[in-house]
Amino acid sequence: MHEFSVIQMAKKQETDAELANKVINLCQRRGIIVQSCEIYGSHAGFFDYGPLGAQLKRNLENNWWNTFVTGREDVVGVDGAIVSPRALWKASGHLDSFNDPLVECKKCGLRSRADHLVEDELKINVDGLSTAHLQELVHEHKLKCPKCKGELLPIRTFNLMFKTHVGATADEATEVYLRPETAQLIFANYKLVQFVSRKQLPFGIAQIGKAFRNEIAPRNFVFRCREFSQMEIEYFIHPAKLDDCPLLSADLLDTKMVLFTQENQEKKTEPKKISLRDALDKKIIGTRWHAYWLAASHEWLVSLGLNALKLRLRQHTKDELSHYSSETWDVEYEYPWGWKELMGIANRTDFDLKQHSKASGKDLSYHDQATNEKVVPFVIEPSLGVDRLLFTLLMDAYCEKGEGGEAKTLLSLSPKVAPVFVSVFPLMKKDGLAEKARDLFQELKQAGFAAEYDEGGSIGRRYARADEAGTPFAITVDYDSLKDDTVTLRERDSGKQERIGLKDVACALHKKL
Ligand code: GAP
Repeated sequence: MHEFSVIQMAKKQETDAELANKVINLCQRRGIIVQSCEIYGSHAGFFDYGPLGAQLKRNLENNWWNTFVTGREDVVGVDGAIVSPRALWKASGHLDSFNDPLVECKKCGLRSRADHLVEDELKINVDGLSTAHLQELVHEHKLKCPKCKGELLPIRTFNLMFKTHVGATADEATEVYLRPETAQLIFANYKLVQFVSRKQLPFGIAQIGKAFRNEIAPRNFVFRCREFSQMEIEYFIHPAKLDDCPLLSADLLDTKMVLFTQENQEKKTEPKKISLRDALDKKIIGTRWHAYWLAASHEWLVSLGLNALKLRLRQHTKDELSHYSSETWDVEYEYPWGWKELMGIANRTDFDLKQHSKASGKDLSYHDQATNEKVVPFVIEPSLGVDRLLFTLLMDAYCEKGEGGEAKTLLSLSPKVAPVFVSVFPLMKKDGLAEKARDLFQELKQAGFAAEYDEGGSIGRRYARADEAGTPFAITVDYDSLKDDTVTLRERDSGKQERIGLKDVACALHKKL
């Protein structure tokens, strides 16, 4: 059996709650992600990334950008402002509809998110349930305040946007909002971007950037926070050509994925593994372009090393669909707290462009040169949170080697995204080993590798430190290196060591990448 599968199996024995806590502890201990502004104590839901975390985040963003923007000819990138005027959020529907269900205790005033409270108290998954249905469950099970057991007031809605004002006057004209999704800046700039990039339908506009949501109850570390980063593509398609998708190759059509359909959820039946071809033939997935983006997103997540057995696609129920969506599928991951959304892929129809056309008075239609007609494109939107993905990857990659007090932590991160790619160690600091190791370290840095030099502590301690940071390769310069110019190359997951020539190190590492 391949070493990697052994590690995966060992991980299965980890109890779920323990796993999340261990990963959070590791993040804090190694300064990967910490509560923001810890020295003063800050509000929940805000986090700072230390050196390893910042690099991992950047690697994920770069990998996504290289795959979906620079690696393709049909997608271009933008970078919009974070603060935008009230009018934009009124038109997009966020002012009226971007709400979560809130329950408040009559006695102590504690405010909780109604769906979370029901899930926690009844130990059921309530994804997809309407507010009315949640209210029924609260009544039926006589749910009380989790803090003081006081009576709960009826569920009401709470808008998640952060509001502020621009300049010294605070009135409706100066009212602005921190964006709760990056998408709207793409829609607002759609006409300009289409013009300057000279793209014809179908084409996409991508963006990576911060989003802000005043979550009632941020929880599960960076899974649900108040400030986070999103990677989003708005993919614009001729409204009559949603099934005309040349990118949906035979290979992709044959890809089998676990689908948890609306019907499964209504009839309480198990999700099934089926091919995209069957899902399209049976009209489970509405359009071929939607199927393509489901497959492309799933494929990319697996390419980062995520365990495909822990991924499934869940269709939003009719009650659950966002105000702009006609069909949404979440890529769900099996978290320690259950199957939950890792990313969403929605058919936003022509809702956003039509809304912004109407509200701004600007024509946002597309001139189809082939037919000389004006159309408003439909949009398929793959949307993913960087922080949520990063935390998911950490939990997926976490494992322990050895037993009991001797157990050592290892992050089995893919070399594609690991914050440090290779560590260089001299066996000892003396006898010219440190100088030789430093020369190699500088050479690897210059060759573009994310390399790190470490000469502190025993060699075993240094391997352990690198394993814990997810560094896939380590090179040790020892006394033989002084004689024959060879070094030891060690692989993190298998612990396998091989002897290679000093001059071959860069080439060997390139091959591993
Ligand atoms: N533009 C569509 C949109 O924003 P969403 O499902 O609300 O859709 C997309 O968010 C993704 O953003 C989610 O799948 C998740 O990965 C991430 N996300 C959403 N809210 C988040 C939060 N509070 N903290 C961290 N990530 C979040």
